[in-house]
Amino acid sequence: KQNIPCLITIFGATGDLSHRKLFPSLFHLYQQNNLNEHIAIIGVGRRDWTNEKFREEIKASISEHVKDTDKIDDFMEHVFYQSNDVNNLQSYNKLVTLSEELDGKFTLEGNRLFYLAMAPEFFGTVTDALQSSGLTKTKGFKRLIIEKPFGTDLKSAEALNKQITKSFDEEEIFRIDHYLGKDMVQNIELIRFSNAMFEPLWNNKYISNIQITSSETLGVEDRGGYYDNSGALKDMVQNHMLQIVSLLAMEPPISLQSEDIRNEKVKALRSIRHITESEVKNYFVRGQYDKGIINNEEVPKYRDEENVDPLSNTPTFVAAKVMIDNFRWAGVPFYIRTGKRMKEKEIRVVVEFKEVPMNLYYKKDQHLDSNLLVINIQPNEGLELHLNARKYIEGIDTEPIKLSYALTTQDKMNTVDAYEGLIYDCLKGDSTNFTHWEELKATWSYVDPVDQYWHDHPAPFPNYPAGSNGPVKSQLLLSRDNLHWWDF
Ligand code: BG6
Repeated sequence: KQNIPCLITIFGATGDLSHRKLFPSLFHLYQQNNLNEHIAIIGVGRRDWTNEKFREEIKASISEHVKDTDKIDDFMEHVFYQSNDVNNLQSYNKLVTLSEELDGKFTLEGNRLFYLAMAPEFFGTVTDALQSSGLTKTKGFKRLIIEKPFGTDLKSAEALNKQITKSFDEEEIFRIDHYLGKDMVQNIELIRFSNAMFEPLWNNKYISNIQITSSETLGVEDRGGYYDNSGALKDMVQNHMLQIVSLLAMEPPISLQSEDIRNEKVKALRSIRHITESEVKNYFVRGQYDKGIINNEEVPKYRDEENVDPLSNTPTFVAAKVMIDNFRWAGVPFYIRTGKRMKEKEIRVVVEFKEVPMNLYYKKDQHLDSNLLVINIQPNEGLELHLNARKYIEGIDTEPIKLSYALTTQDKMNTVDAYEGLIYDCLKGDSTNFTHWEELKATWSYVDPVDQYWHDHPAPFPNYPAGSNGPVKSQLLLSRDNLHWWDF
């Protein structure tokens, strides 16, 4: 175990993310001895709270999210609160004083991690102020964890990056994509590069297509204000979905150093076929949910949600055919699909292999069942292999059989959330599971024309009932290629 002394300053500490994810994760790291006594956490928020009040709130939310709260009172000794007006430079002075005091008290060696878990419009203002107030002038390391969205298109992402890199170097910036913290997403690389039975087949000779689904049953909840300006393309595709594509498509890295992995991911993302506005219809399908039934309850249509424009043109569903124009993948479609208010909560990758050259078996005139490798990411976590075999003694017909491996609850006890591993990675200085600027550049430039086209050409929304698998056109996207989505 590596215990890294550090002062962690969280901006947006009274917000939802801090309560649900960040503090439970930090507590769990402490409880499991991944953090020791040389740690202090300052929660920064607008509200005029005392340390006591903040600790009470944090303690309550930790207890809600972590079952075993052994050592919680010891952990609380390391938690502090500082109210701050992000726009007022003067108010950072108090933060400087507190930071220096805690650095001495807990022997933190000047290591500082700043976590921006706040509204994105403040990202640049805060990093500027961190520098001008002297907070980043420290004898230890300085690092920045930044939540999404990182810009709303390539242009704004570039402007934001320019501003942030005035205060932090690229190696000091850790852009969160929480999908990269999911165990089974991290497993993609292992499954590919440590199994002799996959790596040789992992190309356009043997793979017919790859499908990536991330469906949710939830609607926009209380995030209508943010979501209506974003939508599924920017909220899910530009980041999470394309990150999974890059992990599935990249070439083997020469080592597991983050730089080597990143280089391969960037190359894969750059190989994605760019589509022009006039081609959007051939590669993309959008949807927006209508009212419908989820878990036996009627739910409203998107346009009736709080803080959503009643004539909103924002997609809550996107499906796409992503083509990767390189030697390994030429001709193999990667189909991605993500949506809110769908039938099931499911994050899953299905790799469909090509058929053997001819069918020798009983169903001669028919196709054999496809060999599939299924990577279940959430809520089930594990692997399945769908093969053909003779299941029964009688007859010579082939039957699909399934080999399954599911992570047990025991395996999953180690972390409370994807955030836990990501924060720990950042403390160790390991940026493998974070998004590099070059990846962002590639993904924004891919989605920008689609976004523009959709913006200029409103759709006949709503077009799928809540509780369904999305709009009919999403099925057509595959049936045009004589394929279908694998829904189990
Ligand atoms: C977030 C999106 O990044 O991912 C949300 O902003 C979405 O809209 C969420 O609900 C899905 O995450 P998960 O881990 O539940 O699949």
